[in-house]
Formats: sequence, C-alpha cells, structure tokens
Amino acid sequence: MRVLLPDLPPFRALAVPGITPVYFENDQVPPGEVDGFVLWFLRPDLRRTVLHRPGLKWVLTLTAGIDHVVADLPPGVALYNAHTLHDRAVAQHAVALMLAAGRGLHRYRDTQRRREWADSGPMHTLEGRRVVIWGYGHIGRLLDGMLAPLGAHVTGLTSRSTAQDVEAALTSADDLVMLLPRTPATRHILNAERLALLPSSAWVYNLGRGDLIDPDALNAALDAGQLAGAALDVTEPEPLPASSPLWERENVILTPHVGSTTDDLIERGAAHAAEVLSAMQQGRDVPGRVDVSRGY
Ligand code: OXD
Repeated sequence: MRVLLPDLPPFRALAVPGITPVYFENDQVPPGEVDGFVLWFLRPDLRRTVLHRPGLKWVLTLTAGIDHVVADLPPGVALYNAHTLHDRAVAQHAVALMLAAGRGLHRYRDTQRRREWADSGPMHTLEGRRVVIWGYGHIGRLLDGMLAPLGAHVTGLTSRSTAQDVEAALTSADDLVMLLPRTPATRHILNAERLALLPSSAWVYNLGRGDLIDPDALNAALDAGQLAGAALDVTEPEPLPASSPLWERENVILTPHVGSTTDDLIERGAAHAAEVLSAMQQGRDVPGRVDVSRGY
C-alpha cells in the first residue's frame, strides 16, 4: 500500500510492513498514485489536489476536528481522525483555563508585571460550579471526569440537544465550555440570544472552533457586563486580528489555538499513524473512523 506521509523525522522513522511511504512536504506533494494520505499540516490550497488524487481510498487526519477536510473529500474516500491524540491535552487545557479564571491568575499576571502586591478581585474554586459542556464527545467526557474530583457538577449538551435542554442548561450555568465540532449547524450557535441566558457571573470557554461563538455578540455581552469573563483557545477569525477588542479586556484569557499542543505531539502523531497503518494491514479495527455525513 502506497501512503503519503509528512516529511518529518518521526514519520521517516516509521517502518510498517507492507507500507510503501511517499513523503511530502507542506508545500510540495510528489506525483503518482497513492492509496492513503496521512494529513498533518498541508497548505489549504493544496488540499483539494491531494484529496482528489486518483486511487485515493482513505485519509487519516492527525487532528481531532475534520472540518478542514470534509468539504474537499471526494465521495467514497474513508476518513479517520485522531481525537485520542489530542483529548488529554485539550481537556487539561480546559481545566487550566477554568482554574486560571477562577483563581484570577490572568489578573495576577497583570499585577506582577506592574510589581504590585495586591488582591485583584473576585476568586472562586470549581467546587460546586455548575459546568455545562456543550460538545459532549470524547474530549467532553474526559473533561467531565477531570472536573468531578474538583467538585464541579457537569451537564453535557450535544449539537442534537433540544432547544429546551440548551435553554435550561445555560440559564443555570456557572461555566460554559464550548467543545462542539465545526459544522454548518454549529456556526454562531452561541449567539446573542443564548449568551443572554447565562447568569452574569458565568464564564465562557471555547476550545472547539472559533466560529461556535458570534464574536460581535460576545463582545457586546462582555461590554454590557452580561458575563464574568471568557477564556478562548479558538477565535473567529484566526489568527485574532490586532484590532479585536478581546486583546485588551481584563476578563478575557486568550491562548492561540494551542489546546492540543504538547512538545511530543509529532512523535505521538507518528506513533498513532503507525498504529492505524498496522491495523489496516492486519485487517484489525481501525480507530477513528468518521461518519462523513454527520460532518464530525
Ligand atoms: C484539532 C485541533 O482539531 O487541534 O485537533 O484543533
């Protein structure tokens, strides 16, 4: 089986019996037919060309989200994702943001920079917090398990939750964590109307996709004091433009879409690809098969 693999040392080191690797760089894809494609980083304008290669049977994207692939994926090509590669880091990043917000670490970093030894405002723990996780898939369930020992009470919502369930959950949320996938149905799902349901003491977290939240509605809610704060690992657009009011807000914590990053991510990505390739070669169950018709 001929497989396109990223031209990076950990992928070069892979030796899976029966696999003929064809290495590609971010902006150069060698010609010739391949059966499979292991997608790490690829220039968006090259995706269509690669995904429409004759003979291509499957794609493994080493991301949790698949929104960057589905639109260009030809019918009949199987798609696999790699959520297990990212779930722990993203869930821990969510916990880190929630604890940072609760303990006011963002404000204490600001006072530290000014060499000021002073209490800087409200603080809470996660004990007893009513946390709504909107996007209760692998990562959401893992996050739930991490929050339970901290005393938080979690309600999980999915993109198929009824309007009544969403309304009831948001109305009593102390923390809302957005983890939904990007699909046409989830764009701006957290809009002005739904933000208005949250108590004014609530924090909003986004570790899913930036466009789950309407940015104008979020800024308006923060301006109006309708929310205690927001911690965002993903934004609309990305990168967040320098002109965005979010940069300047004291009650906003921003990280630049690094929720899934770990220092050994490329090595773990290569090990995951090796596992998937071995499973395919040995006719075992292949992890991460995506139902493309659902869009996530
Ligand atoms: C992913 C991400 O989808 O990092 O894996 O956003």
